[in-house]
Amino acid sequence: VIKDVQVAYHDWEAATYDNKWSISFDQRCIDYALGRFRRLVPEPQTFARALEIGCGTGFFLLNLAQAGVAVELHCTDIAPAMVDVCVANGRTLGLAVHGRVADAEALPYPDASFDLVVGHAVAHHLPDLGAAFSEVARVLRPGGRFVLAGEPTRVGDRIAGIVKRGARAGVALAARVAGRQILRPERHDHPPAAALEAEVDLHVFAPADLEALARAAGLVGVTSVTEELTANWFGWTTRTVEALLAPGVLPARYPWFAYRTWRTLFAFDDAVARHVVPKPLFYNCVLTGTAP
Ligand SMILES: C[S@@+](CC[C@H](N)C(=O)[O-])C[C@H]1O[C@@H](n2cnc3c(N)ncnc32)[C@H](O)[C@@H]1O
Repeated sequence: VIKDVQVAYHDWEAATYDNKWSISFDQRCIDYALGRFRRLVPEPQTFARALEIGCGTGFFLLNLAQAGVAVELHCTDIAPAMVDVCVANGRTLGLAVHGRVADAEALPYPDASFDLVVGHAVAHHLPDLGAAFSEVARVLRPGGRFVLAGEPTRVGDRIAGIVKRGARAGVALAARVAGRQILRPERHDHPPAAALEAEVDLHVFAPADLEALARAAGLVGVTSVTEELTANWFGWTTRTVEALLAPGVLPARYPWFAYRTWRTLFAFDDAVARHVVPKPLFYNCVLTGTAP
């Protein structure tokens, strides 16, 4: 049943997904995708055959391909509409994408088919992550690499919940002072699929749990890093505020200011916070391992 929910929700979300998450295929997102990848795979290398699980609209693999990381691109997702958008995004970029509807827990490929498997923001949707990691290990050729990124950590996610509640309270207070006209009018035309948003995030993992699952699936050389502390607090604050305020309330230059601030905080987290704050408190986990 949960997989039907994943399909219904993500099929509905596919057409507006890039807009909702500010996904693009320009230098900004190429740099972000490559930056996550290079944290654990620093040596420049081109992988001949690459697979993405839970590809969504192609944010991770299409941007990595533009950076020269992968050549032959296979994108899979359990939601058919996501695969369609991913293939269309590839076409717009001049990239041939082999799209296929597939459950990450039962990949429709022979053993040892790929040099690289990637996933971004997908593990927390999978009911049996151990099964998915075993499938990744199976379809990788010996020595092939797995990179999972954009995975919220358990503690980071809990802190993000507090940040979001704080941002909502701040906006409510501002509306009491400045008047309700600053609030985005409530929509009553949401289709039933929109209500499934609360159902699709199944779990969060501590980085050590993710590593243990990857090792249990047979991957070797498994390591992980975490990223984004203050950048994440700022990111969720600004995203929550933007979603609640009526269009035009924030100044036109706000997106520019928000992006610059996020980048500064990201650099601070990387240069300073990473050395003094415990790893599990950061929001995003990146994990890698190889097939033996
Ligand atoms: C949060 S989105 C991330 C999409 C994309 N990777 C990105 O970073 O923008 C999660 C994606 O996982 C997909 N998904 C959920 N359950 C899945 C499963 N069992 N197998 C494959 N994909 C799944 C959803 O349909 C959705 O497209």
